[in-house]
Amino acid sequence: MRIAFFDAKPYDMPGFDRYAAEAGLELKYFETRLNEDTVSLAAGFDGVCVFVNDVVNQAVIERLHELGVKVIALRCAGFNNVDTRAAYGKIHVFRVPAYSPYAVAEHAMALLLTINRRTHKAYMRTKDFNFSLSGLTGFDLHGKTVGVIGTGKIGRIFADICRGFGMKILAYDKFPNPESGLDYVNLDDLFAQSDIISLHCPLNEETEHLINADSIARMKQGVVIVNTSRGGLVDTEALIEGIKSKQVGAACLDVYEEEGDLFYEDYSGHIVRDDKLVRLIAMPNVLVTSHQAFLTEEALENIAQTTVENLVKFSNGIPSPDTEVCYRCPRAEDCRKERSGKCF
Ligand code: NAI
Repeated sequence: MRIAFFDAKPYDMPGFDRYAAEAGLELKYFETRLNEDTVSLAAGFDGVCVFVNDVVNQAVIERLHELGVKVIALRCAGFNNVDTRAAYGKIHVFRVPAYSPYAVAEHAMALLLTINRRTHKAYMRTKDFNFSLSGLTGFDLHGKTVGVIGTGKIGRIFADICRGFGMKILAYDKFPNPESGLDYVNLDDLFAQSDIISLHCPLNEETEHLINADSIARMKQGVVIVNTSRGGLVDTEALIEGIKSKQVGAACLDVYEEEGDLFYEDYSGHIVRDDKLVRLIAMPNVLVTSHQAFLTEEALENIAQTTVENLVKFSNGIPSPDTEVCYRCPRAEDCRKERSGKCF
């Protein structure tokens, strides 16, 4: 199999080179992202390997299909950037459902600790021999209530971490897990009672702008919002208004609605034209990281291993029901994977 690997970064290559060599896969790395302008680069390849900000919309999928591409291997968990309905029946789509949920959950806590205890500011100050503590006051996490939205792999680990801090945990999930031992409440109660709200659900039609002007108005004043899931879960304008009015006390954002054109690239020395992002970054109680929650050695290793396994299994006609996705996922009543192991 020949695979066109889009949006390649130096940290991707060591693991992928090793696993691909062992499996006899030929990878060609392209630094550019996959989108309507670059899709022709996939000519002559059997598959494409893509990441979170590659654009795999209907037009791209139709062109990939014309080019004879048979498989899209996402090297990430979320698949909201792939038009799975357009791909259905034409191109199989695989993802890496879990590469290190610890990486993301731990990053969410790192963001929360940083924004609360201002360690990012303290670091800069002491580097400059400024030992003043003014403006660095935080609050104890112990005894606070955290609302966890989405209690899958990452949300549950985040809840465990919070429990270790002595926090009270409220959970909301469309499909609550009765074995999780979590205290499930409805969204209204979670919004009303949480001091901190952390998002761990997927982005889809139902969850888009889950955090909006209306939901922010129903939250506790001074709530801290943590989003390590997908930018589209938060209505950015509403968040900015919430912070300006002090209804939102702080925001930790590893993801951003319009991150596709910016994140993973170095724009230092440029004028960034995204006024909403610039506004957020300029706010003292907002911490932005550029979709790096996944970035641990363990996660990179697991991503490379599972992605190559997905491609090898596909090539050999072996079903991979745990990693193949389609527009019916998750939990469709008439899921074909239950019967044949494949989405189609
Ligand atoms: P998961 O599939 O294990 O859990 C997602 C949970 O969300 C499930 O329990 C599901 O029932 C729930 N859910 C689905 N629809 C919902 C709705 N409408 N309302 C509330 N809950 C709903 O996924 P996992 O591995 O825990 O990942 C969660 C999200 O984290 C992913 O969707 C992805 O967007 C994001 N992510 C971010 C990364 C980063 O680097 N920042 C890396 C990996 C994942």
